[in-house]
Amino acid sequence: MIEVQHLTKRYGNFIAVDNISFTAKKGEVVGLLGPNGAGKTTTMRMLTGFMPPSEGSAKIAGFDVQNDSVEVRKRVGYLPERVPIYPDMTVNDYVLFWARLRGVANAKKQTANVLNNVNLYDRRNTLVRNLSKGMRQRLGLAQALVHSPEVVILDEPTIGIDPQQVIEVRNSVRELGKEHTVLFSTHILSEAEQVCDRVIIINKGKIVAQGAPDTLRKQLQKGDHLYAQISGANAATANKLLGAIPGVEGVNPQGDGYTIRVKAGQDIRGDVAQKVIEGGYRLLELRPVAMTLEDMFLDLVSKE
Ligand SMILES: Nc1ncnc2c1ncn2[C@@H]1O[C@H](COP(=O)(O)OP(=O)(O)OP(=O)(O)O)[C@@H](O)[C@H]1O
Ligand SMILES: [Mg+2]
Repeated sequence: MIEVQHLTKRYGNFIAVDNISFTAKKGEVVGLLGPNGAGKTTTMRMLTGFMPPSEGSAKIAGFDVQNDSVEVRKRVGYLPERVPIYPDMTVNDYVLFWARLRGVANAKKQTANVLNNVNLYDRRNTLVRNLSKGMRQRLGLAQALVHSPEVVILDEPTIGIDPQQVIEVRNSVRELGKEHTVLFSTHILSEAEQVCDRVIIINKGKIVAQGAPDTLRKQLQKGDHLYAQISGANAATANKLLGAIPGVEGVNPQGDGYTIRVKAGQDIRGDVAQKVIEGGYRLLELRPVAMTLEDMFLDLVSKE
C-alpha cells in the first residue's frame, strides 16, 4: 500500500531525509518514530504529494506520488502537523468542503458519519475558530477520513491534546488500522509501541531501526544490564573498577549509581561484588535492570 524507495529530501545542502526505504501493507499500522527534526514531517509531505522528493520514489496504492499525485490524493487521508484552519466555517461546512473537493458521493451523509466517528457531531454548527485544540485535531482527523481513503497518514495526531483524548486518538488509530493502512508519526516511544504493528525509527533523516515492537526490543537490547550503587568511589574509579570485569561492555552513571551493560548471558554479579570489596569500597545495591524500549530509543538516537 505504501512503498518507499530511496526517498531523499534536500533543503539546499542540508539533507532532511536521507535515502529511506520501507513498505506498509494493507491493514498495517506503521509508526514513524523519531526525535524533533528527524525528518518525519518531511517524509509525510513527500508521501502525500505535497512536496517533491529530491531523489527516490514513493507509491501509494500503486500510484507514484509525483507522477500520479491526483490519484494519490484520492486514496490518502492526511492529517498535517498544523491543521489548516478556516476559522469562519462551521465544523460541518469544513468537512463537507473537503468531501466535495474530493468528489465524495453522498457528501452530506458521509460528513455526518465521519463527524460522529470523531465525536464532533454535537459541534457541527460551531465555528472552527471556537474549537479547542483537541477538537481541532479531531476536525483534522475528520477531514483526513471523510473520503474513506485506503491510506491514512497522521502527523503526530496526539500532540497538544489532553490525556483522555490522547487515549481516544490512539484507539481510533488502532481502529483505523483494521481497514486502512496507517502511517503515523510520534516522538513518544510508548505510544508507537501501543499502537503500531511495526515501528520505524528515524534519526537525522536516516532509518536507524525497524520492526515489530517486540522484535525491535530484542534486536536493540544487546546484552543485559545491572544497576550497582557503590559507596566511596567516584565515577572514574567506578568506571575503572567495573570496566575491568570480563563481559562488561559499558558503565554509565545513573542516579546515585551506575548502569553496567553486560554481554548477553553472562552473570557477573559475583565479580562485581568481589571487585568493589577488594577495592576497599562498599556495595550498597546490586540488581538486574530491564531496559525499556524508551532507554534503547534514547541510546540509539543519542549515539549519532
Ligand atoms: N522548508 C524547509 N527548509 C529548510 N529546512 C527544513 C524545511 N523543513 C524542514 N526542514 C529541516 O529538515 C529537518 C527535518 O524536519 P521535519 O520537520 O521533517 O522533522 P520532524 O521529524 O517532523 O520533527 P518534529 O518532531 O519537530 O516535528 C529539520 O532539521 C528541519 O529544520
Ligand atoms: Mg514534524
